[in-house]
Parts: sequence; structure tokens; C-alpha cells
Amino acid sequence: MGYVIAFVQQKGSSGKTTILSHLAHSWAHHGRSVELIDLDPKQTLAHWGVKNREVDMNLKQSKQWHAATDIRESRENHDITLVDCPSNPGTLLHSVVREADLILAPCSPTDFGVWGISTVMQTCKDEGKICRVIMNSAGHHTDKDKSETEKMLETRGADVLDSHLSHRAEFATGFLADYAQPTRQTKSTAYSEIENLRMEIDALLANMG
Ligand SMILES: Nc1ncnc2c1ncn2[C@@H]1O[C@H](COP(=O)(O)OP(=O)(O)O)[C@@H](O)[C@H]1O
Ligand SMILES: [Mg+2]
Repeated sequence: MGYVIAFVQQKGSSGKTTILSHLAHSWAHHGRSVELIDLDPKQTLAHWGVKNREVDMNLKQSKQWHAATDIRESRENHDITLVDCPSNPGTLLHSVVREADLILAPCSPTDFGVWGISTVMQTCKDEGKICRVIMNSAGHHTDKDKSETEKMLETRGADVLDSHLSHRAEFATGFLADYAQPTRQTKSTAYSEIENLRMEIDALLANMG
């Protein structure tokens, strides 16, 4: 039985698919069996998954009515199942959160990003699930900086991971290339950011037993 991690955030373009994809590569490079479940009708992840066949990773395109069954089946057969949710998950949110061990909510340094976290946090609370926020696109020219955003999130009761991802071209370009660039270029800062994030999540999962 493996772990299920769901990527959820009401605000679109906050980095759910980007972070999930890069972490998936990182775990696969470290010998973990990974399955990706795409619940977003836009199928961004499915598009990415088809392009990136460099490491062994399964991809399942699921639908709302079949999500819980697909997640449970994946948990039986893989070390790590990563679930990519649409930005407005609606009723899907509860069923995915219920099935997951850990909910990760990426947040860009904007008011809108902070707003998007509140529904996710409330749902996790209702379902008794662990939720962590990942600061994404730190350093990008937006209305807030990273520490201001973190303060706003913490005031609202969010748990923000220590690791963050900066705004980097590599995280965007890797998406259309044949591989997730930052998980190969081991001397790059982008690589370190992904690895630090993966290790922090691994430690969190290990603590959960
Ligand atoms: N850390 C980052 N640095 C640079 N570009 C990023 C970063 N995170 C996300 N992006 C870009 O932002 C856009 C939205 O990201 P995406 O992962 O599709 O968001 P979501 O899945 O939450 O809608 C994409 O074009 C992606 O390449
Ligand atoms: Mg997405």
C-alpha cells in the first residue's frame, strides 16, 4: 500500500501540474513506482505524461465518478499516487481529499493565491486530512513577496512547507521538452529546489507512518 498525494488549489495556474510533474520525476528517479492520476478535464498532465516517457511512470486519465476507485486501485499497486485536480474541483474536492493521505496546495505570492487556499484547508479540516502549502513562483514579480505571503497564510492557519520553488524558466520549459529538465540537471538550483521539496515531503510521509 502506497501513499496518495493530491494537488489541490482553487486558484488556477498556481503550479499544481508543474510541481506534481517535477516531483513525479524526482520520485521515479529515486526508484519509487509512481502513478499519476489526471482529474482535470483540461488534461494538461496527460499531455505532459505522454511526452515524458524517460522514466517509468503510469498515467491514468480519470473522471469524477470513477476517481475514488481509481485512486484506491493505484494505492494498491504503486509507492506513490499523485492526483492532479482541476482548479475548480467542486464536489470532486471532497472525494479526492477523503482518499488522500496528504493534500498539497501550491500558492503563488498573490492575494488570489492565498484566497484559493481557504476552501482547500476547510475541506481538509472537515475530512481530518493533512494539508501543506507549497510556496511556488517565489521571486516572481507579483503584488506580494514570499515572506509577506507566508505570513498571510500562517495567519489564516495554513501550514507552509519550508521548501519552496522559485519562479524559474526551467520549470516552465521542461513541460514541453522531452524530459523534466530540472530533475536531470543535478547541479542546477532548480534541481536542488525539487529535491529539497521531495525530501521534505518524504519526511512528512514517514512521520505519518
Ligand atoms: N515555479 C515556476 N516557475 C516558472 N513557471 C511556473 C512555475 N510554476 C508554474 N509555472 C508556469 O505557470 C503556468 C501554470 O502552471 P500549472 O502547473 O499549469 O498550474 P495549475 O496546474 O495550478 O493550473 C504554466 O505555464 C507553468 O509552466
Ligand atoms: Mg493543472
